[in-house]
Amino acid sequence: MCCVVGRFNEGSVRPLIAGNWKMNGLSSQLGEIEAIAASVAATRPIAEILICTPATLIARAVQSAAGRIGIGGQDCHAAVCGPFTGDFSAQMLKDAGACSVIVGHSERRQHHGETDAMVAAKASAAWRAGLHVILCIGETQAQRADGKALSVCGDQIAGSLPEGATSSATALAYEPLWAIGTGQTPTAEQIVEMHAHIRQCLELRLGEEGRSVRILYGGSVKPSNAREILALPEVGGALIGGASLKADDFEGILRTVSLGIDALRVEQRTDGNCMTRVGIASDHGGFALKVTITRSLRSLGYEVVDYGAYQLNPADDYPEFIIPLAKAVATGQVERGVALCGSGVGASIAANKVPNVRAGLIHDDFSARQGVEDDDMNVICLGGKLVEAARAVELIETFLSARFSGAARHQRRLSEVQALEHEDT
Ligand code: 13P
Repeated sequence: MCCVVGRFNEGSVRPLIAGNWKMNGLSSQLGEIEAIAASVAATRPIAEILICTPATLIARAVQSAAGRIGIGGQDCHAAVCGPFTGDFSAQMLKDAGACSVIVGHSERRQHHGETDAMVAAKASAAWRAGLHVILCIGETQAQRADGKALSVCGDQIAGSLPEGATSSATALAYEPLWAIGTGQTPTAEQIVEMHAHIRQCLELRLGEEGRSVRILYGGSVKPSNAREILALPEVGGALIGGASLKADDFEGILRTVSLGIDALRVEQRTDGNCMTRVGIASDHGGFALKVTITRSLRSLGYEVVDYGAYQLNPADDYPEFIIPLAKAVATGQVERGVALCGSGVGASIAANKVPNVRAGLIHDDFSARQGVEDDDMNVICLGGKLVEAARAVELIETFLSARFSGAARHQRRLSEVQALEHEDT
């Protein structure tokens, strides 16, 4: 647990706890997703939570998740469409409501003959579709026994991680094949050694960006061992198979994370060094501004989660990116949001339709501060065509450093606004 706290204080990213249902899951099991989503809403763990269901369940699982947890796929084809009977493209997963996809799982490498090159093509296709990617690597028992575990995983990274990986769109999952579904786990020393090696490979490959790519551990993670594993250095989360199928087991793992986070919060409050986790999103109108702002905020020490767009596409539109950002703010996945479009108006309209979001279109420091102090504004909207990058960062910093006053008058006005969210229209 102490290492979870330590990792956060080093300015790294929050953990990703992802479930992989593999080829399990009928509509009768959607209640498990509902239960996990309800518990996330109640406990609001800072970890990012994702369940990767079979493709057949994604659309319904998204409904069950109610925006409280992410839903992902387990594989995608590298092509956009075509004569590939039985396959699903990344766009199809995205269209069904997925936000992420696993690629290169050892079960696909083993049973479907997937090579590093195929995995790389799938990862690129997933990014192009706007999906976050969990790229799996791992050695067999024989490779470990031969002393080749590090080189096998290094080679897999070299071959299956395409150019252009970013930390917001990519996580690496180290899943030793001999630990998957066996109840066996590597020793703490083996996990630490491997994760340090993966970090080194990522930094060599991606430079600065490689420092914040989350490295998940997967293989027989359970409530009884999650705490110890998640506390290890460079473990940025977990990819969980069997124990993600039952809400009770999965929640047991999430409680482990919450314990670490609570300790972190206390520690941050006492040393006054509270780092804000910020979400950012834009359509084409604010895309260039988003790229610059994201870089600046990260260099200022903020943790920034990018909700897209991930590439400039003049045909895209703000609801596609602003609504997921607003939901992330509403569910506590990020503390505050920065929403951009050409003028900022559309971004503000879309964000304010999400319950518990209070978005303001801001042009001046007074409103950036007072909007938070008096109205608990949690999303700042800016016009990509109107505000210069340096000025935008100033406004965002003012917004992020302000705190809601909590005064009775301000609480009262907010509860009146909030009551509207529960009114039948
Ligand atoms: P288990 O947690 O069931 O060992 O599965 C791990 C895994 O393969 C997740 O992708």
